[in-house]
Amino acid sequence: MRKIHLIANWKANPKELADAKRLALAAKDATAKARFTEVALAVPHPFLVPVGEVLGKSERCRPASQDVSPIDEGAHTGSVTAGMLKSVGVQEVIIGHSERRAQGLTDEGVRARMEKVLKRGLTAVLCVGEQERDAHGEYLKKIESQLLTALRAAPKVAAGRLIVAYEPVWAIGEEAQRADTPAGFREVAIYIRKVLSGPFGPRAALTVPVLYGGSVTPENAGAFLLEGHASGLLVGRSSLLAAPFKSIIAEAERVGALQARKS
Ligand code: PGA
Repeated sequence: MRKIHLIANWKANPKELADAKRLALAAKDATAKARFTEVALAVPHPFLVPVGEVLGKSERCRPASQDVSPIDEGAHTGSVTAGMLKSVGVQEVIIGHSERRAQGLTDEGVRARMEKVLKRGLTAVLCVGEQERDAHGEYLKKIESQLLTALRAAPKVAAGRLIVAYEPVWAIGEEAQRADTPAGFREVAIYIRKVLSGPFGPRAALTVPVLYGGSVTPENAGAFLLEGHASGLLVGRSSLLAAPFKSIIAEAERVGALQARKS
């Protein structure tokens, strides 16, 4: 039985620790009886440890990082390394989010981060996605090059520690035109697995979870999981209030139960 991955990307929210703890507690409660869903809360770095304490040893809900530095240690002011993240209990690290790319992170920078995360035995949540979708399929080439550059030096075993999040940039955030459609996501997910079969081989490529992200809401979450066959969701705005995020967890559990009955 495959688990459904829900990754909450809190970005630079909430403003204060007390609110972060409240939100984390609500997510923990919502996953207490979860059978099919695993939640990772990608919180701002100062909240990692206190949120981790709120979540305790919950296997179903744990803190994650929104980014990582491409260095190991030393004179690099403002950097947070993969080793530091591991030492405070982080297991999943988002790499290559479009908002980091918009601030100058290159495909090569993504690759360097990937290397550090894999070396520490952490799981990389690699974000890929086009700025715009064109009618000639050029956007697929963009996704291919993002994937292949990021994974250029990755060993074959890295397939077991990789999650790909397909996040079309035009579908993300307040400025979003709209979410993708489940059918649109499904096509891209098939393409992503085809590209992954290059570095990892076809069988391993099928085991890599491919998530959808971009304007996920309680209303569309179920369709991306069921019709889109998404292995999970990367959720921004809808993870910043307890009620919608709990509804998305409930949707994931509903889909998980349906899939378990079918298999
Ligand atoms: P959104 O953000 O759900 O607010 O569109 C998604 C993301 O940036 O990961």
